[in-house]
Amino acid sequence: MLPLIDWRPHAPLQRLHTDWLERAGVEVAVLRLDLIDPLISGNKWFKLTEHLLAAHTAGAHGLISLGGAHSNHLHALAAAGKRFGFATVGLLRGHPQQTPTTLDLERYGMQLHWLGFGGYRARHEPGFWAPWQALYPLLHPVPEGGGGLPGALGCMPLVSKVREQLMDAGWDDYDGWWLAAGTGTTLAGLVLGEGGARQVYGALAVPDDHGVAPQVEAILQAAGCLERNFELIDASRGGFARVDETLLGFIQDSEAATGVPLEPLYTGKALMALRQAVEAGLIGRGKRLVFVHTGGLQGRRGFAVQA
Ligand SMILES: Cc1ncc(COP(=O)(O)O)c(C=O)c1O
Repeated sequence: MLPLIDWRPHAPLQRLHTDWLERAGVEVAVLRLDLIDPLISGNKWFKLTEHLLAAHTAGAHGLISLGGAHSNHLHALAAAGKRFGFATVGLLRGHPQQTPTTLDLERYGMQLHWLGFGGYRARHEPGFWAPWQALYPLLHPVPEGGGGLPGALGCMPLVSKVREQLMDAGWDDYDGWWLAAGTGTTLAGLVLGEGGARQVYGALAVPDDHGVAPQVEAILQAAGCLERNFELIDASRGGFARVDETLLGFIQDSEAATGVPLEPLYTGKALMALRQAVEAGLIGRGKRLVFVHTGGLQGRRGFAVQA
């Protein structure tokens, strides 16, 4: 049976020093979720914790979930399964292919099934899970990306992680959050954790028509939360996983100046959107923001192969 896992990894809070922040008089500290573990990295672990608890309570033996061939979510899930000793199954988008991520998934013992593109598109249909639950009756299903209310609830403790470490950033308080949003689950967790106290800015890694706003709304409603202190900002640069020279140049310069590694799909786009917002005066002088480094660095390997 899936064990009760009480792993509370440490994510340091580190000040970010750049010339554009200095010029604007804005202070940023990075919550380094990329540093919580060499394998189980980023926001993914936090999005999984409540799903794992639910699976344990239900007496499940493991988890079954979905993702693409470079999925950070499946990577963290497979690594957690190996580390903590539970079974994992991954339902993958598209046709069988080998990427650095899928090779890791297999190495970590995850059982893979390739659904094709049409089969994967059916994942939101009502009967989608029935055949998989018949095949794997002892596995607990987790939605794509570890989303939904359980995913958001798992991210709420990020707020206390930051509050406990404000001194490390030389701060006594902060004004808000800035992070990449894919489904908006992590952002919803921060909105819940703040309870209306501070603004949460989500830099969209996906285009506007991906329905992030309604997904965040659904989570907040399910949680009975009346606060709506968040704002979604277009940071996708023309589409999910769309990468251009300006972005790659920004990432390179930023890494050289700060030593904080970024990948182009989420964290690179999010930090670049923050720079644009700061330079446009959207974030006023004297403001202090926490930038959440949501990890995803394993996905860079697949990107380098594609580019
Ligand atoms: C590295 C990284 N950052 C951010 C996100 C977005 O998180 P969320 O789906 O909770 O908005 C994801 C996954 O979607 C991710 O892999």
